[in-house]
Amino acid sequence: MFDVLKALPADPILNLVVECKADDNPNKVDLGAGVYKDESGNTPIMAAVQAAQTQLQQEETTKTYVSPAGLVGFNQGMINLLLGDSHPAIKDQRVMGVQAPGGCGALNIAGHLIKRCNQDKQVPATVWISTPTWANHIPLLSSCGLQLGEYPYYDGETHGINFDAMMEGLQEIKAGDVVLLHGCCHNPSGADLTQEQWRTVAALLNEKGAMPFVDVAYQGLGDGLEQDAWGMRYLAEHCPEMIIASSCSKNFGLYRERVGEVVVIAKNTTAANISHGQLLSIARGIYSMPPNHGAAVVDIILHNPALTQQWHTELTTMRERIASLRVSLVSQLQAAGAGSRFDYIQHEKGMFSFLGINPEQVLALKQQHSIYMVNSSRISVAGLSDRNMGYVVESLMKVV
Ligand SMILES: Cc1ncc(COP(=O)(O)O)c(C=O)c1O
Repeated sequence: MFDVLKALPADPILNLVVECKADDNPNKVDLGAGVYKDESGNTPIMAAVQAAQTQLQQEETTKTYVSPAGLVGFNQGMINLLLGDSHPAIKDQRVMGVQAPGGCGALNIAGHLIKRCNQDKQVPATVWISTPTWANHIPLLSSCGLQLGEYPYYDGETHGINFDAMMEGLQEIKAGDVVLLHGCCHNPSGADLTQEQWRTVAALLNEKGAMPFVDVAYQGLGDGLEQDAWGMRYLAEHCPEMIIASSCSKNFGLYRERVGEVVVIAKNTTAANISHGQLLSIARGIYSMPPNHGAAVVDIILHNPALTQQWHTELTTMRERIASLRVSLVSQLQAAGAGSRFDYIQHEKGMFSFLGINPEQVLALKQQHSIYMVNSSRISVAGLSDRNMGYVVESLMKVV
């Protein structure tokens, strides 16, 4: 049976981790993986998470199944975190959420929901993704049988969003289409929409009769938990329908526990309840029940004011560290003679930025200096540290 299968190339991002691990150069630097790292290169377990785990272990009395919807407290806590406690859509009872196995699980079951909504349509919806976008959006959504389209977003020449081109590209969307937007900390570019631009996008979607689908995997790692939610909350207030796929991997550091949430905002309570039932049947047909541990930890943190405060403090430390690494990288590159070429990096948000170097230079950094990054020159800024910054700057200057 398996003889018919064709060998596939390794996943380009995941393979970098393998290659970097196997490299015995003591100076090696991993700028590939999208994970937060502290000064010593560790991805720590947050203290709020440790405390919640201890509490969970003491209080947990069973390991029986949860349900395809996951934990009630987690779902409610996540909806409040994403939309804010008093969002009008919550008051109108048009919002419902389902726990999912990570942001990927949330994106995938949302994709299946969109597919189900389009089952009987002669011209099914296209889901529009930004160019560039996080590479995994494509397999996660096309595996649901969805047709994907692309809209222009980041301009490598100007190191910013080409908003005019984005708006022009989005003129192509038709009623019923879906536009995938990064809630904050755009992966891979780190370039986020301004409030004015979010407003313009919302108006265009409404004019076209298209629905926003927001992927938010880095809330709290850009400008702050509230600030990073601004665009998503604005869309939720001004568009009649919306989907959010969120992840707790990065902002709670719960990567391997697989914790995420898919939220549907429908036109009314009936449609929200029906969508909920559909999501449960999708989840049941794929993995039946989501994993419990990480969501139970988040549930505890979000419902214990002291732990919430501790989590906020730790998240602020992480965010400020990434921001200061950006500033430090730019100033060291300037001091090394790069001029203003890399200045944009300090204004971008979240974990990622492009270095704007070509694939040959990326390869040279890997082969000659053991510095690993994605072929597109996307770096995970959190992989930098005071220890390796000088080496990265010196090596980068040698290859450019
Ligand atoms: C933009 C974006 N969306 C979603 C995810 C999925 O996160 P998770 O690891 O929770 O599945 C990621 C992870 O890197 C991401 O960068």
